[in-house]
Amino acid sequence: MASGALLTGAGVFSSTRVLAGSAGPITRYPLYVPPTVDVGSLPTAYLLTAKASTVDLGGGKLSKAWVYNNFIPGPTFRAGQGDIAKINLKNQLAQPTITHWHGMVVDYQNDGHPAYAIQPGGQYAYSFPINQRAALNWYHPHPDKLTGQQVAMGLAGAFIVNDPEEGALGLPAGPYEVPLVIRDASLNTKGNLQYKPGGDGFFGRIPLVNGTANPYLNVDTALYRFRVLGGANARVFELALDSGDPFTLIRNDGGLLAASTQVATIDLAPGERVDLLVDFRALKVGDRVMLRDLSAGWDLLQFVVIRQVSDPTPIPTTLSTIVPLGTEVRTRDFSFDGMSKINGLVYDMSRIDFQVPFGDVERWRFTTGGNAPHPVHVHGASFQVVSRTGGRGQLFPWESGWKDTVLLQDRETVEVLIRFASYKGEYLIHCHKLEHEDNGMMSNFEVV
Ligand code: C2O
Ligand code: CU
Repeated sequence: MASGALLTGAGVFSSTRVLAGSAGPITRYPLYVPPTVDVGSLPTAYLLTAKASTVDLGGGKLSKAWVYNNFIPGPTFRAGQGDIAKINLKNQLAQPTITHWHGMVVDYQNDGHPAYAIQPGGQYAYSFPINQRAALNWYHPHPDKLTGQQVAMGLAGAFIVNDPEEGALGLPAGPYEVPLVIRDASLNTKGNLQYKPGGDGFFGRIPLVNGTANPYLNVDTALYRFRVLGGANARVFELALDSGDPFTLIRNDGGLLAASTQVATIDLAPGERVDLLVDFRALKVGDRVMLRDLSAGWDLLQFVVIRQVSDPTPIPTTLSTIVPLGTEVRTRDFSFDGMSKINGLVYDMSRIDFQVPFGDVERWRFTTGGNAPHPVHVHGASFQVVSRTGGRGQLFPWESGWKDTVLLQDRETVEVLIRFASYKGEYLIHCHKLEHEDNGMMSNFEVV
């Protein structure tokens, strides 16, 4: 069943699938945009079901996949500061699962720790207040050793947090604000999604944007806001426009940057997010622009200008205030060893590796000798990246402000400042290359 046709569920308020057509030398299909669910204003908990199903990856042919509520990606959740998100996860897969809200600052019981995985047929009731800056976060499975398979088979979705600060900027909205979940995938000879990781992780043979292969998006001569999520298991994308125009970068994992910046290319590792303004106002009807991945040499998404409009939306320069975290109380070292260890240890779900005092500023130093990429992700708090030495030897514009995932390449040392000031309890640090995570490159710690 085409995922765009399944819009009858409670709480599903909107969906967009532009009319079919083709553009360019290969057949392209309309970009799928998942329905939005305002989870902050529902009278009852929203039911999110993980199950095997079929999806249309473009072109009408159905592929077997694992999906949240029939969609790849799953519904886009939206909530505002002060709201309470209530979501019931139902497991209709044939294996255990649990959902983690990546980037959401929630207490331990709502964080999707693998110890809380539910068996087939089970349910997990989440309920958490939204108390953080506006951002694009996301949700995906987090069971012990099965995360890579479940994500590659299709389980993931966006979770947007809104707040008054961002609302006051007058950023492009409605049809001009489009989430883009970028990942790679492999199909078997029958056209079904398959998960066959190699020794160095899962690298799919084709890119998918919002679950669409070879997508296009019809656009107006307007300013657009693309909220981009690196949703691959292992692949790092290098985003660029074939027009040579830069992106205007306004936001990353943890919300708005201090100021907007023009960047020609952006590295996007698994788990990272960027918010990009793209200006089509100087183009004419019929013009085309391609969003590309320079790393694999892939065309990701074609923009086709179909309508002339006049759009006065200003591009903001000053965006937010980023208060530096200040001086650390202590430093901790984390060595990402081989493809399965942190500080020499393979993950053990029942072992707590260290304790972090609530409210202290700490300096965490991530290093690796090899086997990168290691996108380092921390649950429970965002951090500020302060330095990178070795390897690429610099910080990039998309690493300023607040982050929850930072890319560690071979022979790099990255230092971040972090402070857990929302909840006590058990959280995780891990490599977001999902095959490394599943192999054990993950550690439990406790905020005390
Ligand atoms: Cu996106 Cu612990 O995960
Ligand atoms: Cu890794």
